[in-house]
Amino acid sequence: MSIFTSRRTAGSDTTALLTSGDDAPLLELRGVTACYGRIQVLNGVDLVVPRGEVVALLGPNGAGKSTTLKVATGQHPVASGCVHVAGRHVNGVKPDALARIGLCTIPEGRGIFRNLTVRENLKMATFAGTSEEQVIERAVARFPRLGERLDQMAGTMSGGEQQMLAMARGLATDPALLIIDELSMGLAPLIVAELYEIVAGIAHEGVSILVVEQFARTVLGVADQALIMQHGYVIASGPPAEIEAELSAAYLGANP
Ligand SMILES: Nc1ncnc2c1ncn2[C@@H]1O[C@H](COP(=O)(O)OP(=O)(O)O)[C@@H](O)[C@H]1O
Ligand SMILES: [Mg+2]
Repeated sequence: MSIFTSRRTAGSDTTALLTSGDDAPLLELRGVTACYGRIQVLNGVDLVVPRGEVVALLGPNGAGKSTTLKVATGQHPVASGCVHVAGRHVNGVKPDALARIGLCTIPEGRGIFRNLTVRENLKMATFAGTSEEQVIERAVARFPRLGERLDQMAGTMSGGEQQMLAMARGLATDPALLIIDELSMGLAPLIVAELYEIVAGIAHEGVSILVVEQFARTVLGVADQALIMQHGYVIASGPPAEIEAELSAAYLGANP
C-alpha cells in the first residue's frame, strides 16, 4: 500500500489525511455488507463522515454498529460494497495501515490495560513517533485529572477517567478521524456530559469524530449528523434534531 506508507511514516506529521488538500469525506461507506460466517449482519450500509464533523451512529444492541466500525477500520472484512478513506478505496487494507494514515479507534470497553499505570498506558501511544514526554504533556493538558493519576493502575480509576485515558492515548497519535464505540457505556449522565464537552472541543480543533452510542442522546447535542441503525440497515439519517424524534420509534421497534 505505497500510497499510505509514502504519505505517512512513523515519526512524521501524523495529520497527513486531515491536511491533504483533497475534500473527499474522511470516511465513506457505500453499500457495505458484512458477515460472520454465513450470517449477514450488515445489509448495505451507507455512511459518510465529512471532514471536521461529528457523526453519531445510534441504534439498539445487535444493530450492527460495532461491526460497521470494525469494517471501517479494517478489522472485519467487507463482503460487498466499498470503504473509502479520504477518497481512497481501502477495502482489505489492514488496521495498522489505516491507523498510520490517521484513523484511531477506541473500542467498546475502551481498550486500556487495566493492570498498567496511566503513564504506561500512555507510553503505548509513542509507537507513532511522538516522545513519551510529549504524549504525557498533551494528555495532561487535555485531561488534567490524568495528571494527578499518572502512576495509578488504570483499572482502579473511575469509568469516566478510563474513558479519558483511552481518548488521551488515541489523540496522542494525532488522528484525523477518531472513532469511539459506546463512549458513554456504564457512565453516569454527568460524566457523559463532561466527556461530550471534551469531544466537542476535539472536533473544534479539526478532528473528525464518528461515535457510536446505544442510548445516550447527549451525543446529539454535539453531533453534526446522526444515523440510526437497526438489523444491519441504516434506517434514518440526518440532522440530530430530526433523528432525535425517530429514536424512540427505532428502539420500540427493536424491542417488541
Ligand atoms: N464475533 C461475532 N461472531 C458472530 N456474530 C457476531 C459477532 N459479533 C457480532 N455478531 C452479531 O452481529 C450482529 C451485529 O453485532 P454488532 O455489530 O456487535 O452490533 P451492535 O454494536 O450494534 O450492538 C449481532 O447480531 C451480533 O450477534
Ligand atoms: Mg456494539
